[in-house]
Amino acid sequence: MPETLRFGSNTGQPVTRRDGVAKVTGAATFAADNRPDGLLYAVYASATIARGRVTRMDTDAALAHPGVVDVMTHENRPALAGDPDTKPLRFAFRMPLLNGDEVFYANQAIAIVLGETLEAATEGARLLAPEYESLPPRTGLDDDAPFVSAGGAFGLPEGKEYGDVDAGISAADTMLEARYETSAQYHHPMEPHAVVARWEGDRLILDLPNQAISMTCKTLAYYFGVPPENIVIRTPYLGGGFGSKALLNAPQVLAMIAARKAGRPVKLVLRREQLFGPTGHRGKTRQTLRLGIDGDARLTAMDHDTLAATSSFDEFLEPASNASQGLYSAPALRSVHRGVRNDIGTPGPMRAPGEASGSAALECAMDELAEKAGLDPLEFRLRNYAEVEPGTDKPYSSKALRECYMCGAERFGWAKRPQSPRQMTNSNGHLVGWGMGTALFPAPMFEANARATIRADGTALVETGAVDMGQGAWTSLAQIAADSLGLPLGRVAFHAGTSELPDGGVAGGSAHTATAGSALHAAGIDAIAKLAEVAAADPASPLFGTGNAGVAARDGWLIAQDDEARRESFADILARAGLAKIEGTGRGARSSDASKRHAMYSHGAVFAEVTLDPYVLQPRVTRLVGAFAAGRIVNPRLAESQLMGGMIWGISFALHEEALCDHRTGRIVNGDLGGYHIPVNADVSDLEVMTIHEDDPYVNEIGVKGVGELGITGTVGAIGNAIYHATGHRIRRFPIRIEDLL
Ligand code: MOS
Repeated sequence: MPETLRFGSNTGQPVTRRDGVAKVTGAATFAADNRPDGLLYAVYASATIARGRVTRMDTDAALAHPGVVDVMTHENRPALAGDPDTKPLRFAFRMPLLNGDEVFYANQAIAIVLGETLEAATEGARLLAPEYESLPPRTGLDDDAPFVSAGGAFGLPEGKEYGDVDAGISAADTMLEARYETSAQYHHPMEPHAVVARWEGDRLILDLPNQAISMTCKTLAYYFGVPPENIVIRTPYLGGGFGSKALLNAPQVLAMIAARKAGRPVKLVLRREQLFGPTGHRGKTRQTLRLGIDGDARLTAMDHDTLAATSSFDEFLEPASNASQGLYSAPALRSVHRGVRNDIGTPGPMRAPGEASGSAALECAMDELAEKAGLDPLEFRLRNYAEVEPGTDKPYSSKALRECYMCGAERFGWAKRPQSPRQMTNSNGHLVGWGMGTALFPAPMFEANARATIRADGTALVETGAVDMGQGAWTSLAQIAADSLGLPLGRVAFHAGTSELPDGGVAGGSAHTATAGSALHAAGIDAIAKLAEVAAADPASPLFGTGNAGVAARDGWLIAQDDEARRESFADILARAGLAKIEGTGRGARSSDASKRHAMYSHGAVFAEVTLDPYVLQPRVTRLVGAFAAGRIVNPRLAESQLMGGMIWGISFALHEEALCDHRTGRIVNGDLGGYHIPVNADVSDLEVMTIHEDDPYVNEIGVKGVGELGITGTVGAIGNAIYHATGHRIRRFPIRIEDLL
């Protein structure tokens, strides 16, 4: 295929979000904005204990309240076709769907009340006044016997081992053994989890914010005993997901069951504090790293052991040890994950699952080791730069990490960094420190399908089922499609986000643009090929007989490759052929061959400046520079915005975010956005993102990797290292707080 057909002038442009106006004017409807006729409002009662049983609920009092229509508890929840105690699919969680009276975590749904109004349902839920028999909750990593992850299932990461780790460690000239801890974090998308559910016979129509529509249809089909086609999910807009909407949660399913039981549509919107429990979270970790280096400061072995909290009824172990794979050149590596059962909601994927927590530990450990080796932290990383993937020796499909290091360091002024800590102060006499970290995230692809339709008026409609989480996929995916079709962006309409469209796969894993983009690209090429066939076979077309010489699509014209004067517009070709449209289809996925040949990752380098008043010791990130390489940047504005968001989450991880559990009750004491700290504008000063050019001919047809999760990785470590450089204190627990620095 000629390059002009593949990529025109749309990709690479910093186009603003196409759905931006609809969003800021309120024209974009989110799931909870839907109000079908006969709607009932659902409110659920949340368990106030973390472990035990519900012994009594005053359902009579709730039912007696005016406007309350129904109360569903474990005693009257209709039977499900599929047992919720099983996992219907590889990517599904076990869910307490009022299966019994047991409480597994605080904020678990223990009853759901339907009302004619939200107020009636809210009051009904309050009147239930549940009583419990409670047991002491397990809330810490030492509260139960750990188990080793065997791998082989979602949530149970594979261990990895290559080379002789023990030999590498005994041969090391210098060793670092350090233990790092990361806290539990809860995703808080601006749009809380919600659902509007209505049944039409045995068809279930859902307005449901969800990152994995087709998978979710299958899970629900299992629970309700209907074919997956009977589940219709419409979720054109999402107000953020961050992984928390990748999987269904129990309250959403309960609302669907309640709608069927009541024979009326039901709306449920989780309250902000209800997002601390049933909707997944980043599980806390304790990571032990053992790294050895030889006399030349080259790694001899890496040993990364992660202990992570999971729930009592399912497994999701934060795959933090994965961060040590694929980045630094070490002849031997062992990564292990172990889990501990706590009485908490099951953790789940949260932006950069594994790498965010793991790279925080790894990048701090690398900084500690660089100091032991007497080397600048950047020099130390360059000395351990992997030219091929460690352990497999596969070449990288592309890797501009060295350029990221150089450009980022140059921009930041890294060369002026004194090697020892506590050397720099600013004009206010505040301590200043500089630190860095490497960013790494795999560049996976899932599977997506798409359709491209060239219409009689010469415009096109492109469609794929997957959602836009808010990051701008509506725009960047349309840019890719427009180039494949040889059309200006304004002549390409884009539909996405419903299960009625071709299965668009999952919006997650930093793979959405790569996967859905590849599918749209293939669909566009297919449509153009079909259009070209029509023209080439038509004696009345200027393109008659172009056949082998081929044509390119540009600006709504098909143009003969060998003679620019021979051209015809899409509209004319269709009109003369008497066609209302031409449709192409495409699939995006990576062949296992491609994965066998190349290792694929996005990379970056993050440089941080931290400033602290020596008497107050509150760390402030006064400067952050990130340089990232992620293949083709489809839309620099949106990509940089994603990376910036990731880096801000890095600030959050390093200095703010922590769900604090009360060990007596198992409840989260700061379980709302008043107490759960995240950075505000005042916490983010000077933040700069650079993207480094990277041509990747192997990662997929469109050369796109991913940027969604990359920005967090590297940033946390860079900030921790900058705090050390400013204060001389090595803090190995995140978030780093004032009291740690006293
Ligand atoms: Mo992401 S944690 O795959 O939404």
